[in-house]
Amino acid sequence: MQRLNVGLIGCGLMGNMHAMSIVNCIEEGVFAGKAEIKLHAIADVDEKTLNSRSDLYEVPVRTTNGHELCISNDIDAIYVCTPTKFHAEFAIDALRHGKHVFVEKPLGTIPQIRDMIVARDAGKAKCQVGLVLRYDPLYWYVKKLVADKAKDFGPMQNVIFRDDQDYPYTGTGSHPSTWRADKDIAFHGTLFEHSIHDMDQLLAICGDVESLAASVKFFNNKPDIEDSATLLLNFKNGASGSLTSVWYAADRDSRRCEIYFKNAVLEFVPGALGIGSLHYKVLTKPDVKVEQREIQDTYMATMFKGLRVPPSHAYFYETVAFMQSIIDGTPTYNALEAALKVHEIIEACYMASREKKVVKL
Ligand SMILES: NC(=O)c1ccc[n+]([C@@H]2O[C@H](COP(=O)([O-])OP(=O)(O)OC[C@H]3O[C@@H](n4cnc5c(N)ncnc54)[C@H](O)[C@@H]3O)[C@@H](O)[C@H]2O)c1
Repeated sequence: MQRLNVGLIGCGLMGNMHAMSIVNCIEEGVFAGKAEIKLHAIADVDEKTLNSRSDLYEVPVRTTNGHELCISNDIDAIYVCTPTKFHAEFAIDALRHGKHVFVEKPLGTIPQIRDMIVARDAGKAKCQVGLVLRYDPLYWYVKKLVADKAKDFGPMQNVIFRDDQDYPYTGTGSHPSTWRADKDIAFHGTLFEHSIHDMDQLLAICGDVESLAASVKFFNNKPDIEDSATLLLNFKNGASGSLTSVWYAADRDSRRCEIYFKNAVLEFVPGALGIGSLHYKVLTKPDVKVEQREIQDTYMATMFKGLRVPPSHAYFYETVAFMQSIIDGTPTYNALEAALKVHEIIEACYMASREKKVVKL
């Protein structure tokens, strides 16, 4: 039986979410008979967080120094869930020591991502990125629907994606920490930190971007931490589209997407941890509402063939996929190369806004 001892670096909001998913994976016996998975160690610089999470999950090893986990012979896989600034440092150290790595988004700078790729290839380990919407059944289903109905829908013409979220750095609400206000730790604001997920999904659904223009704005006196971004995207498939990303004070966290084809329109509104809603209309035919059950069942039957995976949420599914890639050797859907492309496009958006020009990719 394969041993899979997991270490977790940074156990705040996301670290805790991943710890819960790892424990669920063990308790549900998803890999029973194939691998013995253990949440073996936690590292966090904040001793209160470290002790409370280690006690909660009965984790035998705890430390304030994440690098101890990266070099430990007792650990096989590491989740890096620190604030963004520390992702590259821990991911590269762990990969160089042959550990499989799950690293949260955003990854860091473009050179740092390239260094991660080199470290992964040298260590021959798996590395999955926390672009979690790839494991959200609704987005997954939309991508499949657009491909399956290509003939009925006709050419894609236009896409509108809107994402608004309350300030995630006030230390209140669903984000209890404040580091997202600090450019030295977070690097950028709403587009990089939050809408990197949206860009990833726009690429998944609409294909590659050919050129873009952008307007990035700052309303909250936080250097380099933008709270508004509007992107104009020209896709290689001929469609154009916009992505609007906003951080503001209203107590809301919401996304909505509309896609217009020559013969059809499709709209979806993701749920928080649930599936949300999806409907589409082709020519004069009645509007079709896709049932949540249909989305969930199709996703489960396709994504996790042969595994006993209970219905849950995208964070759980991404952990199952990460474990599966290690245990069964399946490829990681969220590879570093795909994440690099998304980061490069986001960086191009900042340049387009700064220099007030259209950037060709
Ligand atoms: N995939 C998603 O949907 C999603 C959602 C939220 C956050 N994130 C990402 O996850 C990461 C963490 O965000 P969060 O909301 O959990 O932040 P958080 O502040 O809640 O948690 C971060 C934890 O890391 C610890 N930490 C800080 N520096 C450390 C270091 N050098 N070594 C070890 N521990 C350290 C902190 O003490 C804290 O407990 C960020 O990169 C964020 O962008 C992803």
